[in-house]
Amino acid sequence: MIMVMETERLILRPWTEADAEDVYRYAKDPEIGPAAGWKPHESVEESRAVIRDILSAEGTYAVVLKETGLPVGSIGIMRNTDHAKGEDTAEIGYWLGKPYWGRGLIPEAVRECLRRCFAELNCSEVWCCYYAGNEKSRRVQEKCGFRYHHKIENCVNSLGVCHTVYVNRITKAEYEER
Ligand SMILES: CC(C)(COP(=O)(O)OP(=O)(O)OC[C@H]1O[C@@H](n2cnc3c(N)ncnc32)[C@H](O)[C@@H]1OP(=O)(O)O)[C@@H](O)C(=O)NCCC(=O)NCCS
Repeated sequence: MIMVMETERLILRPWTEADAEDVYRYAKDPEIGPAAGWKPHESVEESRAVIRDILSAEGTYAVVLKETGLPVGSIGIMRNTDHAKGEDTAEIGYWLGKPYWGRGLIPEAVRECLRRCFAELNCSEVWCCYYAGNEKSRRVQEKCGFRYHHKIENCVNSLGVCHTVYVNRITKAEYEER
């Protein structure tokens, strides 16, 4: 079954290879990928391969602006990650094309994903992480109700870069209180 979610300004729908040019437009920006642990894309062909091999995973969605009908970012509800192991837990990750920063679009998408995690996927908690110094992502998580859980020092990612990772969580009870 193809899952599509809708918010006031966004459609969250599965990625397709036809989105390669839109992915490349934003994912070539060195301010996007490295903040999320991946290298900037170098060609439309690379973006197409990333869609095929990574973004096509179940639970990963193109963040599409209703206004234009075009994808401007990505969000994933990931299962069985380093932080979220087990059937009742998930981790959310995201990025957004730079021209669209600062409009609260990713918080809007995250809130919809949290609704799905707690209301439809039977999660009892959801995790979200950011690298120390990524204030933009820290704010997204704070605004969506995640709380500091622990941090991991000297974490070397697949790009070979060492970060302190802040690991945040929201429980179902905390979500329902909001
Ligand atoms: C993190 C990210 C997804 C935020 O998405 P967004 O939809 O712009 O989120 P918001 O609109 O809520 O803005 C979040 C914060 O970014 C900062 N910000 C907003 N516009 C900005 C801009 N144009 N330039 C720099 N910072 C900006 C503000 O501090 C804002 O917090 P505030 O609500 O206190 O003002 C986006 O910045 C991004 O894709 N960054 C690169 C990839 C990344 O870091 N992914 C997350 C990895 S954990």
